[in-house]
Amino acid sequence: MSAPIIRPLAQMRGLIRRWKAHGETIGVVPTMGALHEGHLSLVRAARERCDRVIVTLFVNPRQFNSPEDFAKYPRTEIADAELLGPLAVDALFVPEGAEVYPPDHATTVSVTGVTEPLEGAHRPGHFDGVATVVTLLFNMTQPDAAFFGEKDWQQLQLVRRLVSDLKLPLEIVPCPCVRAGDGLALSSRNQRLSVAARAQAAALPQSLFGAAARIEAGEAPAPLLAEAEAALAGAGFGPVEYLALRDGESLGDPQSGRPARLLVAAWLDGVRLIDNVAVTLPG
Ligand code: PAJ
Repeated sequence: MSAPIIRPLAQMRGLIRRWKAHGETIGVVPTMGALHEGHLSLVRAARERCDRVIVTLFVNPRQFNSPEDFAKYPRTEIADAELLGPLAVDALFVPEGAEVYPPDHATTVSVTGVTEPLEGAHRPGHFDGVATVVTLLFNMTQPDAAFFGEKDWQQLQLVRRLVSDLKLPLEIVPCPCVRAGDGLALSSRNQRLSVAARAQAAALPQSLFGAAARIEAGEAPAPLLAEAEAALAGAGFGPVEYLALRDGESLGDPQSGRPARLLVAAWLDGVRLIDNVAVTLPG
């Protein structure tokens, strides 16, 4: 049995009204589809905490940097609904583009600070697209809790900032990154790697974890990160857009005594991969 697909917002709102009238809590898992075990781990976390679970599937044109990338994004709606069936998802909400962004849509949500470095610097406009669609999806589904993966660390910090600043009445639940056996973070984009590139891709988490361990052991980050970048280039990655040690929350400079994060974005075989790992800075 597949999860029930709901398209019109009016129908989604009708269900939500009924659930809320019965005092049921709602969890939402926003996705762009092409679901894999990473997404499913978020759905399971939502299932454990909430009476009703909505998974949203919307390939958001406003967060892509080129129309080609948007067009190339995998669309596997039937398979997605089938994957969600056994997880007892109450609704797979697949709003139409014209309902999310009618022709007279004129509002952009923009979060400053946390969105500016790293992904923000390399993907202009991307985070405005994410902040706008996440706000819309929250307003369309009125959840008590929303589940986001630590795979997209900077996005998670953006969403936390947004919810806090706009005083949105919901809880953001972070979920750990799910990895393949060789350490590569699961991603819809991995499908685009050739077999040879997929085998090389494990060098990304390996250099990330290796560098994090050496920083935790007290080595100076700057030369070590330069060395790790060179090693990635040697392993076939290019360009490496960033490999950076940052404060885990603000994504500014790391502060001793606060959780830090090591984040990377690098291209392999024409596919852009991102990853990150926690780092405990030596005291
Ligand atoms: P998408 O890339 O489909 O990811 C949906 C959610 O799944 C995000 O919260 C992401 O962090 C999480 N996720 C992806 N891969 C994961 C993995 N390997 N382990 C754990 N969680 C993982 O992120 C987006 O869509 C969009 O930007 C969205 C928030 C839906 C707004 O359009």
